[in-house]
Amino acid sequence: MPQAPVISERGLTTGNAPFVEEARSRGELYIEQIYDLYSGANHESWQRLYERIRPRWDRYANDHFLKGVETLRLPPDRIPRLTDINRVLRPMTGFQAKPVSGYVPAFLFFDCLRRREFPTTITIRSADQLDYLPEPDIFHDVAGHVPMHTEKAFADILVRFGDCAHTAVEITADIRDAHERARRMTNIIRAMSRFFWFTIEFGLIRGPRGTCAYGSGLLSSYGELQHAIESDEVGRYPIRFEWAINQAFEIDHYQPLLFVVHSFEHLFDLVDQLERWMRAGKLNNVAPGAPEINERDLQSFLDASTMAC
Ligand SMILES: [Fe+2]
Repeated sequence: MPQAPVISERGLTTGNAPFVEEARSRGELYIEQIYDLYSGANHESWQRLYERIRPRWDRYANDHFLKGVETLRLPPDRIPRLTDINRVLRPMTGFQAKPVSGYVPAFLFFDCLRRREFPTTITIRSADQLDYLPEPDIFHDVAGHVPMHTEKAFADILVRFGDCAHTAVEITADIRDAHERARRMTNIIRAMSRFFWFTIEFGLIRGPRGTCAYGSGLLSSYGELQHAIESDEVGRYPIRFEWAINQAFEIDHYQPLLFVVHSFEHLFDLVDQLERWMRAGKLNNVAPGAPEINERDLQSFLDASTMAC
């Protein structure tokens, strides 16, 4: 009989959540959001994050995002229950937020998107880390990503990223030389990661109110959201596919370079291009540099590739 999780005063705080850490140590990637485990301090972190970013959303977020926030009725004063979110979200685009215990290796992540499941972190940053957290938390995943999943055109783009991961597996499955297979896969994952970064995480879109954010890294960061739109130091360029897939990025400071799409139909076409270039072999030698592809991400693709043989 499964044991009931022990309620800890530490709650579900990033880096200090025994329930999540134990699940991870048992190798359980997909978990439940046990709502009673959140501490008062956890809800307070959400409330503070939400309260201060809300006026910036009104000013800098794209209209689809703002509509999504209203439709999902994100609570301003407490961490949302994913079951409440999914009840509204699923009939709209088929997407649902799926609680995970931590890092999801790249192939599994993209594969989830293909099934319209969004791997969702359930822990939340502590009150002394409101400004910057190097890893995702529930504020980034739910307040930053999920409102965009109410928009059909955007949801379809995420699914196409999932298709691209399957294409990568398909076109490398019959490469006999293991070293060459890993080399090509590394390049393809790097290209996909860059393109995802410069669009889904940090993308800008032109709209009736000027340039707005649709990238979740921006929409979940009080400081960077304003900086991305207002700062003279940020280079904002109409997106160029071949540039984005060859452009290195760093995660530990505000992004100095951002790309602008003019619609989600435009972005959908660019993800099609990602797949076409992959099939043509044009992603096999992208520019070296960040992100470094870690062993778990590469292995997740190679494992899928082995199974496809
Ligand atoms: Fe993200």
